[in-house]
Amino acid sequence: MSKLKIAVQKSGRLSEKSLELFRSCGIRLSNGDRTLITSSPNFPVDILFLRDDDIPHYVEEGVADAGILGENVVWESESNVVVNDKLGFGGCRMSLAIPRDEVYTGVSWMENRRIATSYPQILKNYLQKKGISAAIEITGGSVEVAPGIGLADAIFDIVSTGSTLMMNGLKEVEVIKRSEAVMISSKVLSSTKSEILSKLLFRIRSVKKASENNCLPQ
Ligand code: PRP
Ligand code: ZN
Repeated sequence: MSKLKIAVQKSGRLSEKSLELFRSCGIRLSNGDRTLITSSPNFPVDILFLRDDDIPHYVEEGVADAGILGENVVWESESNVVVNDKLGFGGCRMSLAIPRDEVYTGVSWMENRRIATSYPQILKNYLQKKGISAAIEITGGSVEVAPGIGLADAIFDIVSTGSTLMMNGLKEVEVIKRSEAVMISSKVLSSTKSEILSKLLFRIRSVKKASENNCLPQ
């Protein structure tokens, strides 16, 4: 029997909540350690644990049929996938931040500065739209340390509670986009897989509606 392969973040902000979403839909998952793949005994899905940045590409290539990840990662990848539903968790802002002691004078402050980010594509589009020229320093992780070590004047990153910025002596000065977790899927799914996805989305919508109306136990 055919199963829907869904990729979720292996470890990070969205991992636990993604698994909770399946559980809240009545989909049981073996709760062993997060090996590469796990399946459900009561719903036709296999869960693949991957780095979130790799998920759009894998879904585009058909290695996974669907995926749960932040819109921020989907936008950055500019991949050719279907974005289905927003899932109501993992909300964050994509913001520019600068050292706390700097006086911010508006977005023109960024002119001719160096901005560190792991979202170069989104940042490039934004700067272009605003007519600002700045050097984009691409970093794989720990973007928030870049100003402190003299690698950049500002950073562009996702902000959730704001504590990462605070701990690194930075302040948020522009919110460029707001992102949350979404379900994406491949543009080419077999009819059986499309059916499984529709059933899953139906359950997710019902759970979301129920919790919005506050009529779930607990
Ligand atoms: C993000 C971001 C910050 C942190 C912000 O990383 O890069 O480090 O979260 O959250 P805060 O405002 O609550 O402190 P994330 O863990 O999402 O992972 P990733 O970018 O490595 O996928
Ligand atoms: Zn990531």
